[in-house]
Parts: sequence; structure tokens; C-alpha cells
Amino acid sequence: MTMPQQLQGRLRLPIISAPMFLGSGVDLVVGACRAGVIGTFPALNLRTTEDFDGWLTQIETALAEPGPEGREPAPYGVNFIVHSSNQRIEADLAQIVAHEVPLVITSLGAAKEVVDAVHSYGGLVFHDVTNAKFARKAADAGVDGLILVSAGAGGHAGGLNPFALISEVRAVWDGPLILGGALSTGRDVLAAQAAGADLAYMGTRFLATEESLVSEAYREMIVGSGAEQIVYTPSISTIPANFLRESIVAAGLDPDHLPVPDKVDLGHVTNPHAEETTQSGPAPKAWKEVWSAGQSVAGIDSVVPVAELVDRLEAEYTQAKGELLAVIGE
Ligand SMILES: Cc1cc2nc3c(=O)[nH]c(=O)nc-3n(C[C@H](O)[C@H](O)[C@H](O)COP(=O)(O)O)c2cc1C
Repeated sequence: MTMPQQLQGRLRLPIISAPMFLGSGVDLVVGACRAGVIGTFPALNLRTTEDFDGWLTQIETALAEPGPEGREPAPYGVNFIVHSSNQRIEADLAQIVAHEVPLVITSLGAAKEVVDAVHSYGGLVFHDVTNAKFARKAADAGVDGLILVSAGAGGHAGGLNPFALISEVRAVWDGPLILGGALSTGRDVLAAQAAGADLAYMGTRFLATEESLVSEAYREMIVGSGAEQIVYTPSISTIPANFLRESIVAAGLDPDHLPVPDKVDLGHVTNPHAEETTQSGPAPKAWKEVWSAGQSVAGIDSVVPVAELVDRLEAEYTQAKGELLAVIGE
């Protein structure tokens, strides 16, 4: 296992609260970091680079204070879309460098220039991938860690089983590995480590906290849904993603007969604030009206403050470790 040196001794649990469009904001990031796990948000949660700068300042200011029990807050991170259709690449990257953002999570493209810029101040770059081909490309760009987004994840999930994905990526990458997709409990975090991951990447579980930006109805739908109420489809966001079945119905669509998009539109994905239309009028908005969540809803039974969630994850993790050691021996 290969936890990057910048993170060693800095985390209470090996967890990243994953970036979520319209879901993770300042309170969730700060709450997660103060509780001892990495909090992150997508730069595109802000409509402008000036607003992005504002959030970075707020987060830094809050994290300058010691956490509960005098604990040093965990480092925070930002999700950065590296694709030609993101018109803010240069301006946002300048803010990332100016603020010395400790962890940058790149998506859609892994670029050596971005990696070099983040390395210039000692920051880390993790890149999210769904298969070995993209893992190889990211490794060539010099990233510090690979996030494996497996089947069942919230947002734009991959289609591969986590064990299969780890095996394929391990064949081309021996550096830090972060596993995401359907993890919801402390036991799942331990399982991710047993499977060879250094860190667990959890999105949906952190969406069901009081600090997330989503509505009460959205949180309650997460709590009330089971894994079978998660629909994996390219129809809502043009590339395959997982959505809550009930929210598809509420938006007036039939989850069993969704239209098939004729092409993948990355420009649309990288500008999630764009208005969507169909020939017959406005389309329901992905993320805003049709709500994303992963199969980890199976293990989510309540909405809690993020500090309480991390306490619970730690207790579950410790218990699972004890039980496992009793089975397999020290
Ligand atoms: C509502 C929602 C929005 C998301 N938005 C983003 C995003 O903007 N950028 C990104 O890289 N991943 C995004 N994701 C994916 C998460 O970062 C992460 O990969 C995923 O949540 C992990 O799976 P889990 O939800 O089963 O824990 C989103 C996930 C959800 C549930």
C-alpha cells in the first residue's frame, strides 16, 4: 500500500468525501476535514472563477482553526475538469496554484501541465478513471494517484466490478489507489483497503448529511431508496450515470423507457450549468431535477451531521477490523 507522503498521519480514516456537483459545498468540505477525512468539491459548483476563489478562501480560513479535540483538520481537495470545453481551465488553475490547493482531482483528461502546476507547490493530483486504458494515460501524465470509479457509483459511474477494475489497473499502476463506488460503511472502507486501495472514495454517503447542499427531499429519497432503485443510464446526462428512480418519475419520465441519446456530449457534461432543451421544450435538468445517487443508498439509513457520520464510520471500521482479525488471526 502506498499512501502519499503528504497524507500520511493527516487522516483519522482513509476516506475522501468525493466531489459532487450541486452537492458538496463549503460546509460539507470543512465539516469533513475537521472530522478528519478529506473533503472535496467540484470547481464547477461555482459559476465563475471569482466565486471559486471565494470558496477557496472560506475553506482555508475555516481550516486554519484546529478541529475538535485539538485535531489538525485533514487536507481538502478540488475536482477540476480537464477538457477543452471547460473554458475556465486556465483561470481556475491559476486559483488552484495561488491557493496551493492540497489535492486536485482531475476528470475527463489528465494533463502533464496541470500535474506540473500542482506539483510546483507540493500538491497532489489524483485522476479518476473507469478502466485500465485511461489509467495508463493518467499514469503517463504523472498523476500521484488513481481513483477507480467502479460500477454502482453515484454520478458518472463506471461499469466494472471493483475487483475486476483493481486487477486490471494494478497491472499497469503500482502507485496510490483510491476506490470508489457503492461504499457506505466503515466496514466497506476496510474492505476497500483489503482489496488493495489506499483510500476509500465516498460520495452518496456524504450527500446524506446535514451539511450537503441538496434539498431535504433529495436526502430523504436517498435514505428511502434501495440499490434496485438506482437507474444506470446515459439518457439523463449523455454519458452513463446513476440516478434515483423516484426522481426520474417525478420529472415526468419513464425510467424503464428512457430515450437513448444519439451522441455523447462532453461539452454538455463539462458545462453542467448549461440549459437543456429537447425539440419539444425544456428537458428535465440532470442533477438539479433528476437526482444522482449510487447503489450505496443500500447502506444509508439516516441523514446525520458530517461529524457524526465520521464518528460512526470510525466505530464501524474499528468493529469490522476486530471481527476480521478474529476470523483470520493477527
Ligand atoms: C450527486 C452527485 C454529483 C457528482 N458530481 C461529480 C462531479 O461534479 N465531479 C466528479 O468528479 N464526480 C462527481 N460525482 C461522483 C463522485 O465524486 C464519486 O465518484 C461517487 O459519488 C462515488 O460513488 P458513491 O456515490 O457510490 O460513493 C458525483 C456523484 C454524485 C452522487
